[in-house]
Amino acid sequence: MDVEAEKRRAALASADLIENGMRVGLGTGSTVGYLLAELAVRRPRVSYVATSPRTATIMRDAGIEVDPFDALDRLDLAIDGADQITSGGWLIKGGGGAHTREKIVAASADRYVVIADASKFVESLHAPVPLELLAFGVAATLGRLHPSELRAAPRSPDHGVLADYLGVVDDPAALSARLAGTPGVVAHGLFPPSLVTEILLGRGGTLQQITIGGPQ
Ligand code: 5RP
Repeated sequence: MDVEAEKRRAALASADLIENGMRVGLGTGSTVGYLLAELAVRRPRVSYVATSPRTATIMRDAGIEVDPFDALDRLDLAIDGADQITSGGWLIKGGGGAHTREKIVAASADRYVVIADASKFVESLHAPVPLELLAFGVAATLGRLHPSELRAAPRSPDHGVLADYLGVVDDPAALSARLAGTPGVVAHGLFPPSLVTEILLGRGGTLQQITIGGPQ
């Protein structure tokens, strides 16, 4: 199985969804990297926002403008990768530590499309669940999130501390509520199906499309 070919297949299919005049959110990671390379070739006339400095830099290095995400209030489309995907549309994201901005972009998009290779498709979600924590009181916050550990990674672009929740994820909705309700948690990497419109999975030589629903 050629994982890189599967990532590229999904990414190229997502590039076909981009039309001139759209406002488009761009995710972060190696799968999205194939999309960025394709956009540098196709150069559709769209407005972009990026979920990370890494993605913004790749686009700007290709001579493509990226707007700050402070003036636009909606996006037509956002495309991003994921670390884990279930058939019901639950995601775990944030392996690259960008999940806070990724979730804001996902929630702001009329259509949120997830691109991945088939290895990301799982029967059920499992740890780690990425966390971004406020630095203030971080040891106390971690104590409320047992079992979890700090990640050996630089701070997020918003100066948050990255960590991972290591417990069971048998009820993602309940865990989401617990993590979101813990003081000191800026954002967690569980993305509910209500955010997700569709999933494009490269699977061997084919593309698997899974419609979830998500924002209408
Ligand atoms: C970054 C993410 C990425 O989308 C996720 O880690 C998948 O990355 P890749 O495409 O490199 O496997 O959530 O925060």
